[in-house]
Amino acid sequence: MTNAAPRKPIRKAVFPVAGMGTRFLPATKAIPKEMLPVIDRPLIQYAVDEAREAGIEQLIFVTGRGKTAIVEHFDMAFELETTMKERDKTLEVLEPTRIQPGNLVTVRQQVPLGLGHAIWCARAIVGDEPFAIFLPDELMIANKGSTGCMKQMVEAYNEVGGNLISVLEVPEEEVSSYGVIAPGARHLGSGGALTEVTGLVEKPKREAAPSNLIISGRYILQPEVMRVLEGQGKGAGGEIQLTDAMARMIGQQPFHAVTFAGKRYDCGSKTGMVEATLALALEREDMAEDVRAIAMRLLGLS
Ligand code: UTP
Repeated sequence: MTNAAPRKPIRKAVFPVAGMGTRFLPATKAIPKEMLPVIDRPLIQYAVDEAREAGIEQLIFVTGRGKTAIVEHFDMAFELETTMKERDKTLEVLEPTRIQPGNLVTVRQQVPLGLGHAIWCARAIVGDEPFAIFLPDELMIANKGSTGCMKQMVEAYNEVGGNLISVLEVPEEEVSSYGVIAPGARHLGSGGALTEVTGLVEKPKREAAPSNLIISGRYILQPEVMRVLEGQGKGAGGEIQLTDAMARMIGQQPFHAVTFAGKRYDCGSKTGMVEATLALALEREDMAEDVRAIAMRLLGLS
């Protein structure tokens, strides 16, 4: 199914960062989960880098109490910069934290009622445009030579329009922790493998899951989703689920899944965070050799 109407570009991205991060307590009591670092960058920085690579201009953070460090991270740190300059230190390392004035907007989700509710809180800023969503605790690292996940999705969007989600395959015993798609026709677009989405279900029982393709933290949605979220009741886990709202849009607008050509790390879980840290360290020229030696020693292999 393709959309013949001219497509509006994806200029805005919503970052829901108002969750409680209970799986990382007590680390996340005073520090937002999205500020936990993988090596030397907080999770939110990786997501913002991916958004910028995809040409997205306006960043909308849905925040809550105790989340101000995220906004501070992208603000100008005048004293720090002055002191660094006085000490002849390069400011290059701060470059990724610079946002064009006016391009960062925050809205508050007063009570963490779920991902769907967090997205709905951004409705006035999103307005009447298609928009991207990033869950920053899902770290998407592209294969060497490939573009980032959202850039791949924007390319797919330029071909088929409508709504897109990124998906990946997981072992069947893991599906009950995620949003799962019912797959329709598949085809290969220039932005990667595309699958038509014929249904969506949040946290299904293993026996009832329509596939083992799970939604993996990146979305391009049409603004109509806000109207669907309006007044939507609670779903799985007693939360207002984005998956339920998206499911209601299937059949009314094109809906595709993009299989990301890269690796996804679930940094909302402790083991996922360790895996991401190790994997990225082993890819870095300045660390790989030392980290490999440490890992071998810890495993008793050297
Ligand atoms: P998660 O369920 O992974 O995050 O939500 P959480 O609730 O913070 O973590 P745990 O399970 O308690 O450890 C996915 C994303 O949606 C945001 C979270 O901040 C995270 O980025 N979220 C979730 C909200 O912004 N508001 C909510 O009400 C729920």
